[in-house]
Amino acid sequence: MNSYNPLRFAALILFIFTGCKTLPPTPTGLVAEKAMVVSAREEASKIGVEILKKGGNAFDAMIATDMALVVAYPFAGNLGGGGFMVYRKADGTTGALDYREKAPLSAKKDMYLDSLGNVIPNMSTVGATAVGVPGTVAGMIAVHEKFGSLPLKEILAPVIALAKNGIVVTEKQAEHFADYREKILLVNGGITSFPIDAKTGDILKYPALAETMQRIADNGRDGFYKGETGKTLAAFIQKKGGYVTEEDLSKYEAKWRTPITFSYKDLKIISMSPPSSGGITLNQIFSMMEPYKVSKYGHNSEKEIQLFTEAARRAYADRNYYLGDPDFVDIPREILLSENYLKKRMESFSFRQATKSSDIKEGNVQMAESMETTHYSIVDSEGNAVSVTTTLNGAYGSKLYSDELGFFLNNEMDDFSAKAGVPNMFGLIGAEANSIAPEKRMLSSMTPTLVEKDNTLWMVVGTPGGSTIITAVAQTILNAYEFNMSMQASVDAPRFHHQWLPDVVMFEPQGFSAKLKENLKSKGYIINEDRTPIIGKVNAIRVLPDGNLEGGADRRGDDTAVGF
Ligand code: GLY
Repeated sequence: MNSYNPLRFAALILFIFTGCKTLPPTPTGLVAEKAMVVSAREEASKIGVEILKKGGNAFDAMIATDMALVVAYPFAGNLGGGGFMVYRKADGTTGALDYREKAPLSAKKDMYLDSLGNVIPNMSTVGATAVGVPGTVAGMIAVHEKFGSLPLKEILAPVIALAKNGIVVTEKQAEHFADYREKILLVNGGITSFPIDAKTGDILKYPALAETMQRIADNGRDGFYKGETGKTLAAFIQKKGGYVTEEDLSKYEAKWRTPITFSYKDLKIISMSPPSSGGITLNQIFSMMEPYKVSKYGHNSEKEIQLFTEAARRAYADRNYYLGDPDFVDIPREILLSENYLKKRMESFSFRQATKSSDIKEGNVQMAESMETTHYSIVDSEGNAVSVTTTLNGAYGSKLYSDELGFFLNNEMDDFSAKAGVPNMFGLIGAEANSIAPEKRMLSSMTPTLVEKDNTLWMVVGTPGGSTIITAVAQTILNAYEFNMSMQASVDAPRFHHQWLPDVVMFEPQGFSAKLKENLKSKGYIINEDRTPIIGKVNAIRVLPDGNLEGGADRRGDDTAVGF
């Protein structure tokens, strides 16, 4: 119980020298001494912890948790999608992995446009035409090759057992099945082996998925991208009218990237770099807010909401215009993140009235999803931390389900800008930087993030939520840092969102008074309370001053923290 824990030691030293000014918040989430996994499903968090207890590290636990989510949370957990991971090892080194889907080799800039140049409805969102080349398995194998400490077979064994023995359907999961039943049936020709009629308490077994997982356990990357799975998958997508071929699958590679690292007051924030917009947009929002005394305004106060909204408005305008796959476009990153540029961006901000998004546009630089993604956070007993966000894009992705292989395929092609100026399913307006090209990665909002305070790990955080991901992550960090909330309270607090266009501020239904909204309206803010009932589903871990870990598992879902 009292064995040496490097996180505890570092945190104690930090507390003795700096921590006496503000009393830290009393934890309200699960507290664990050594290690923790927080994910969208209890089964997945438990399997991650099982691997940690067996002596696996955070990276082994990542693979186990990720794969368990495919079984327990097919809404977003995936073999047929992609994601991003940001890590911080116990020695302080950081890095990031990009296993985002890619456009197939046959992709064309105008592939979703009709002869008149109009976007063809549903083509990039539903069914086989929406499917990008999946990256998840390549990501898991890349992590295992670089950092894994247990054999892949040992890591995947409990996941395969879970698929064979079954998971218990939760109330929320049964609601998801019912909500998407018709769409899944429609895409799959009226019949599917996916258990869409399951009710709360039913036990669901996935034998085809267990076999697919076993081939990955036996053959690694080739067990998915080549051989039986690769052939079956490519043939299935093409039979359904899609573009992904065996060549696309065999060519797919995950890429190690340098994360975006920046400071906010005395925090160091490490987040995902392009092709995710998360890190750059988060950096812009925080840097634009930094000169202000945020904590004095009060949590979710009129002034805080105004400041945050105006920073987000300007950052999303830049996001939509300048960001894309860095292997294909030159992103003016130094300028976008420079102090001078961001100061100038905020010159038009006043607490007296809202800026109009039509007056903002992207900055002059020289040169709404929804919850369908999922995030998990892990810290191991050595102090290694991983922050992972993974997605099929929409709920159950394209809704295309392979009965033979036992998993859904993504509809990530919709994250490209099919036509400049036309919004995607999150209402995000894209530009040339995110246009479609063969083998290009589509721009993402996924924002897996780690935060350090005084060179020590302080928080692991991320969320689903499409375009609302970035603002939900930012508000969670602000809640803990500026408003001294516990990890669980920071995650549970009501959230709001603004993304430049559409020019509306979205509020979760609970937690914002009518008077506050009236005041904002009188200053010119357009309020939309109906569009999104919940904003984000954050899963986070905070290192407490005594070195213990506090989980923040979002009350909005079945999300669960498990630790020891
Ligand atoms: N598919 C949502 C995102 O990557 O932002």
